[in-house]
Amino acid sequence: MVESTSGFLLPSPPPPPPRPPPAGTLAMERGGGAPPETLREEGQLGCVPPPGLEASCVKKSSWGFLFTGIVGGTLVAVYAVATPFITPALRRICLPFVPATTKQIENVVKMLRGRRGSVVDVGSGDGRIVIAAAKEGFAAAGYELNPWLVWYSRYRAWREGVQGSAKFYISDLWKVSFSQYSNVVIFGVPQMMPQLEKKLELELEDNARVIACRFPFPHWTPDQVTGEGIDTVWAYDMSTFRGRETRP
Ligand SMILES: C[S@@+](CC[C@H](N)C(=O)[O-])C[C@H]1O[C@@H](n2cnc3c(N)ncnc32)[C@H](O)[C@@H]1O
Repeated sequence: MVESTSGFLLPSPPPPPPRPPPAGTLAMERGGGAPPETLREEGQLGCVPPPGLEASCVKKSSWGFLFTGIVGGTLVAVYAVATPFITPALRRICLPFVPATTKQIENVVKMLRGRRGSVVDVGSGDGRIVIAAAKEGFAAAGYELNPWLVWYSRYRAWREGVQGSAKFYISDLWKVSFSQYSNVVIFGVPQMMPQLEKKLELELEDNARVIACRFPFPHWTPDQVTGEGIDTVWAYDMSTFRGRETRP
């Protein structure tokens, strides 16, 4: 009961209906935890998460950023590494990275016996032929489109102790001249051999030797052949070849 301004006693207004407690409060009221007064006060102040919950929200969003960063970074890295390996396959002449077999390398080295000067591997892959030639005492070079393979080749040459005589260049084989080399090695594909034959014919000196792995040149006659099957290697000497040229 409350006293009115005129002195009469009036019935007191009915109490407001109880607010439904926020989720969890009931459980706490029943089961313990923080005193109900404290919780009710927080409920009246608005939607302020308890300190522990706020910290966990911040933690969750940092994990989200980290996860997105890791996934994004991984995708970019995979793309950067894979692209140089895939693009040769998309070119007009598809020349993918297929490393020479051990037998193939032995056959190339056999064809270099008694030769002098420099050696170049056209499309040098992971550098195995260049490194083998450098170990035989040649000043060897490799031209390769894929930068990852070139960096790996340089690392391998350094590891094998021939970094002084094995050099690697990131280059398109169709855009460089091989005229300075006296021994040219190519492990190519049949589609490129006619075009490469013409290019080398124009560029190389008479004392040069061309060594073809797995696929021979279409018009030249080899001076020597060694190995069999996929390990076959053909050697063409420019001097003898130019002497017996019959093509128009
Ligand atoms: C069949 S693999 C031979 C690799 C190496 N010569 C060996 O015998 O182990 C051909 C190489 O040529 C490279 N290649 C493809 N197109 C090229 C281009 N236009 N210029 C330079 N290298 C190229 C490829 O990336 C690949 O590593």
